[in-house]
Amino acid sequence: MIKKYVFGTPFETEAIVKEMDTEQGNLTFGKVSAESGFTFSYLMSKDDIVYGLGEANRGINKRNYCYISNCTDEPNHLEDKKSLYAAHNFIVISGRENFGLFFDYPAKITFDIGYTKEELLEVSCESADLYLYVITGENAYDIVKQFRKIIGRSYIPPKFAFGFGQSRWGYKTKEDYRKVLEGYRKNHIPMDMIYMDIDYMQDFKDFTLNEENFKDFPEFVHEMKEEGIRLVPIIDAGVKVEEGYSVYEEGVEKGYFCKREDGSDFIAAVWPGDTHFPDVLNADARKWFGDHYRFLIDQGIEGFWNDMNEPAIFYSREGMEELKTLIKKYVEEDLETLPVWELEKHVLGIASHPEDYARFYHNVDGRKIRHDKVHNLFGCNMTRAAGEAFERIAPDKRFLMFSRSSYIGMHRYGGIWTGDNKSWWSHILLNLKMMPSLNMCGFLYAGADLGGFGADSTRDLVLRWMALGVFTPLMRNHSAEGTREQEAYQFGDTEDFRGIVETRYRLLPYLYSEYMKAALNDDMYFRPLAFVYPEDSFAKEVEDQMMLGDEIMIAPVYTQNAKGRYVYLPEDMLFVKFTKDGAYTEESLKQGHHYVEIAINEVPLFIRKGRCIPLVKAAKCAEELDTTHMDVIGFADAEYTLYEDDGMHKDYENPKNYRVLKCR
Ligand code: GLC
Repeated sequence: MIKKYVFGTPFETEAIVKEMDTEQGNLTFGKVSAESGFTFSYLMSKDDIVYGLGEANRGINKRNYCYISNCTDEPNHLEDKKSLYAAHNFIVISGRENFGLFFDYPAKITFDIGYTKEELLEVSCESADLYLYVITGENAYDIVKQFRKIIGRSYIPPKFAFGFGQSRWGYKTKEDYRKVLEGYRKNHIPMDMIYMDIDYMQDFKDFTLNEENFKDFPEFVHEMKEEGIRLVPIIDAGVKVEEGYSVYEEGVEKGYFCKREDGSDFIAAVWPGDTHFPDVLNADARKWFGDHYRFLIDQGIEGFWNDMNEPAIFYSREGMEELKTLIKKYVEEDLETLPVWELEKHVLGIASHPEDYARFYHNVDGRKIRHDKVHNLFGCNMTRAAGEAFERIAPDKRFLMFSRSSYIGMHRYGGIWTGDNKSWWSHILLNLKMMPSLNMCGFLYAGADLGGFGADSTRDLVLRWMALGVFTPLMRNHSAEGTREQEAYQFGDTEDFRGIVETRYRLLPYLYSEYMKAALNDDMYFRPLAFVYPEDSFAKEVEDQMMLGDEIMIAPVYTQNAKGRYVYLPEDMLFVKFTKDGAYTEESLKQGHHYVEIAINEVPLFIRKGRCIPLVKAAKCAEELDTTHMDVIGFADAEYTLYEDDGMHKDYENPKNYRVLKCR
């Protein structure tokens, strides 16, 4: 059952698609105080688990820390960080009482989950203008499913997006892309996508192509497609301020950029230097910005990634002026005793500065709304701009789209990647832990930068991380300019990498089928063990293994130099290890704790008792997989219902998309 409560005058975020009456009277769980700001409080019992918050730091069980939904360009995902790129304000309390809470509030909101006081859950925000949805159900999983029903169907990407993709910030010319293609094809490592980071643009201007390097772009897109490769360009939130640049000039003329209080266009420095932010909360501006994706679609592009849309601000005009004044003051007063530490604090603090987010406004249906009041909706609406445009441009076609920043509601328009992680072992685990939480909030198409974005990677880290990436719907290796190159062919002997990526393709029909079933039934693709085995007290604590679909459990290795790992099996399972050259081993394991050996080039998975999964032969790209010949592995006589469609169009409800396979 779901109850909707209203406080004050909420901003309509459009996160919820189901019309519902609002309740009067007190909440069934917890207390609300709306006197100064808004606070929801609830006394947790000792063993309650708190799930949710989507893309947030730390564990699956969110207890004993504090999380702040305040979309932030945060390249250092250290354990103490409270805000990352997204705002997914849905939590489930599971234990003595079971209920879910969705705080539909578009500005900064704090979830203190036993951080200040061990047993106290306190959710607070500055203004008491919000909708609060309270969901009751049998258990956490049931509550999640109810929530997913009211937020609308999750985004469905084209099938090629389930292939493997290579990315790196720094590819500049057609030759750079051809080299990546060659690196993969020559070594027979499958690949479907190569991502184009900001250098494809002319001076980092959205919806342009570098004039020197990308002449005859449609031919180049075609050349890649002939090889089974889709090029996937990035689009950034900020539009470069430059006379003569048509997107800038049009936006200024039509008044479609975010404005300062005095009505002038707000200037934020991002990659291109000075930029204006398209006012994606204004329906007309959103349509205008979305229509620009056509520039690349008309040249053969079928997918995009939206970036810097928290929106990231390196510095504002105002911030820079203040900093200059400060430096001048120090220099004039006493150059000798220049307070270096204090200066450093100011210089570093100029990026993503809270004051800057209060310096510009949106025009929402003629109302002037200060950005910080709706901050967490920017990335969501930038991606919505693209999603709505795709519907207008080619209503029957699926486009690949994922975003860095998001709010619940954006899950209907695109997926997400989890931003600028690092080549750290701890980030493999963080990647894994985020996945089920994201699914709870509707984000099914998700993945992290495999191999790590920042810092230098190592061969073993890339292999282990890609072995997890085999299972995440978005499987992309991406890294930052200046870091060690980490494409699969950069570390000598490529056979190990080939084996891992081939495993992805061998499993692709299963992974795609489970993704589609999850999307079409508002269900989860990744589930914590506790959702599947609610009575199992060990399962409740497992955070480094995950259920994937209805058939398998995954347990990646995330420790350097480990030769295997401990796993907990809530029931008897078949342990399958994929090795190179399409080979695999099988071993029956009993319910309980086990140590399993997993070599650096192996991909482990566990098939649940009585279940089976289909396997195909790997191919160089998703479209070339032959699904007419499938092996089925698992328990004898088990059956699997496979969902399969053309992967391009939207004929989802066709009963012909299902067929039953049997394991012999
Ligand atoms: C941001 C993105 C990263 C990208 C870089 C350059 O840091 O998160 O993925 O490579 O910008 O565009």
